[in-house]
Amino acid sequence: MSFSTSRQYPTARLRRMRKDDFSRRLMRETTLTPNDLIWPVFVLDGKNRRESVASMPEVERLSIDLLIEEAKEAQALGIPALALFPVIDTALKSELAEEAYNASGLVQRSVAELKAACPELGVITDVALDPYTSHGQDGILDEQGYVQNDRTVDTLIKQALSHAEAGADVVAPSDMMDGRIGLIRAVLEREQLHNTRIMAYSAKYASRYYGPFRDAVGSAANLGKADKSTYQMDPANSDEALQETALDLAEGADMVMVKPGMPYLDVVWRIKQELKVPTFAYQVSGEYAMHMAAFENGWLDADSVILESLACFKRAGADGVLTYFAKRAARLLAS
Ligand code: PBG
Repeated sequence: MSFSTSRQYPTARLRRMRKDDFSRRLMRETTLTPNDLIWPVFVLDGKNRRESVASMPEVERLSIDLLIEEAKEAQALGIPALALFPVIDTALKSELAEEAYNASGLVQRSVAELKAACPELGVITDVALDPYTSHGQDGILDEQGYVQNDRTVDTLIKQALSHAEAGADVVAPSDMMDGRIGLIRAVLEREQLHNTRIMAYSAKYASRYYGPFRDAVGSAANLGKADKSTYQMDPANSDEALQETALDLAEGADMVMVKPGMPYLDVVWRIKQELKVPTFAYQVSGEYAMHMAAFENGWLDADSVILESLACFKRAGADGVLTYFAKRAARLLAS
């Protein structure tokens, strides 16, 4: 065996640019900043109330007064917006979800108080009936238990309008009924609410990753073993996500969303590549719970994994991420 004297060198040495921090920073393709973060929060009635959520460690349901203090912190950290989810008293839930459009309901009051206390912080409201229905589905059922599309949309329109009238900057229909974006947009226009933005949950999948959220808002018990696959999308599909998104845009959505997040980054990528519109993704409650479980066991390093997970949304093309880690991530980015 002999050694060759003419040494073969690699034609490319990609490690050269990785050698120092300066060149790693120069070639970095995407960056994560607090501007990319939307913070989902759970609000409940009463004063000075704070409840923990068993399946979402460190996430709390807060009464409006406490939420306002947290919102001020989020704003100071540079987070552009929060997304509001209500925990509705069982006594106010019904078959037809009438509480959803009560002008002095919990969401409507929360929006008004948040906008008065932190006018610069964007407030996004969830347009869907599940916190308000006695059965936990996102719509109004027929005798067979099927969610009726057009009857549900009639109620969603009233709900969205009541949010906008309370001062919501963005209404975010997360219900997956057909045709709701166009009808909500038409009503907002009719009422001269031209600047209320619509963030459409366009590609929302029938996912089991929402389990902890349903605990948090208290719809899990009502929903029982029923699922939402007659209106939310089949996790096996991707072309359908483009079709849903294109329809929502044609009907007047300003921003679109993919949900869940990490298992669906290919869908985020396709939507951004093909439609080139403001695209968001939701790192949902189950993704949060998985991370927290690993952090609490010491199996993953929390701070670096949180930032890595969020940076990957940016790489996939997301313009922003709804994440329960928003404040923690913003603090890390500031340090
Ligand atoms: C309600 C809604 C859900 C989530 C956001 N809006 C639950 C569902 O569709 O069952 C889930 C968010 C999360 O899991 O973090 N329509």
